[in-house]
Amino acid sequence: MKNDFVVTPWEVKGEIDYDKLVERFGTQRITEELLRRIKKHAKTLHPMLRRNIFYSHRDLGWILDEYEKGSKFILYTGRGPSGDTHLGHLMPWIFTKYLQDSFDAKLLFQLTDDEKFLFSESLSLEDTKKYAYENALDVIALGFDSKKTEIFLDTEFIASQYRLALKVAKRVTFSTAKAVFGFDNSSNIGSIFFTSIQSVPAFLESERQNKAVPCLIPCAIDQDAHFRVTRDVAPMLGYPKPSLIHCKFFPSLTGSDKMSASKTETSIFTTDAPEVAKKKIIDAFTGGQATIKEQKEKGGNPDICSIYQYCFYIFEEDDEKVRELRESCRRGGILCGECKRELAKRVAKFLEQHQKKREKARDKLEEFVIKD
Ligand code: TRP
Repeated sequence: MKNDFVVTPWEVKGEIDYDKLVERFGTQRITEELLRRIKKHAKTLHPMLRRNIFYSHRDLGWILDEYEKGSKFILYTGRGPSGDTHLGHLMPWIFTKYLQDSFDAKLLFQLTDDEKFLFSESLSLEDTKKYAYENALDVIALGFDSKKTEIFLDTEFIASQYRLALKVAKRVTFSTAKAVFGFDNSSNIGSIFFTSIQSVPAFLESERQNKAVPCLIPCAIDQDAHFRVTRDVAPMLGYPKPSLIHCKFFPSLTGSDKMSASKTETSIFTTDAPEVAKKKIIDAFTGGQATIKEQKEKGGNPDICSIYQYCFYIFEEDDEKVRELRESCRRGGILCGECKRELAKRVAKFLEQHQKKREKARDKLEEFVIKD
């Protein structure tokens, strides 16, 4: 069916209407008023906020109220280690780093090696553990503060999480899990239990400190389903409901849908050799015309162009330059080849720097990764 799209934690499909998603999920849009409040404390507004990439939330106002009263929040986010990290995964983490710096917030980072084992037909526990450690290198490489950041693999931190997971699990019925996640009689029983594990870090700091510690979860909007469950059970367990701030999906090089780790040619991985990444960009889908003549006459369409989207999402921080790029494309003032070469240069430079930090991160794993 045209215009139909699916967004669940395990499947993102079709052309996504982000406004409809807010309605479907019952979340709130981030208002100008909220942006003003964030800016007051953070000093700068991150481009992902200015550009509506982080665009939806639950109870963000409450988190700011608490912060203004002197009650600091913790940040919680995570990654399902099913493969190497690509640029789409980095996006919310880059934003999380901005929040950590701006609000002096502690971060809990959950690597759900259990989840990816349970939901995959091919990955073994050894595979997901290996990817978890590889993915952790990317998190560390982004520059999180080791004194304020704890990263853990579920399978290596389960004793510390199990009591809370049980408390959550007892409050979630099978019919709720079916309604929220679409499970049926053929679903394995581990996958049905899993959401209770993803809830735990939202409550962990309150449990540790034995007082209500507000928690803000930055994540892509597909993860919202888990946290609807978390928020429903929170009052029953005596914890504050975690707040959420949701982002859109980073586009793939085909110009549509989200970047997917299973399509290696249309995603850029943090471990790609810069030359390989460059080639992927040169081969990418653009919003350009078929010939130079037509491009000059009719102009291109940045809205469907993956190259433009890359600049907009991550690779051009200056709003004025984004606007210029957009207009010049529309006017036919710039050709796709030029645009691609410029982006390829930026991405290659980013990868070179990131890969150096990523290798250094191997020696820092112990500072970040906690175990039972
Ligand atoms: N389930 C997420 C994934 O598949 C991983 C995850 C765990 C997560 N906890 C999280 C993501 C908190 C965002 C916020 O990627």
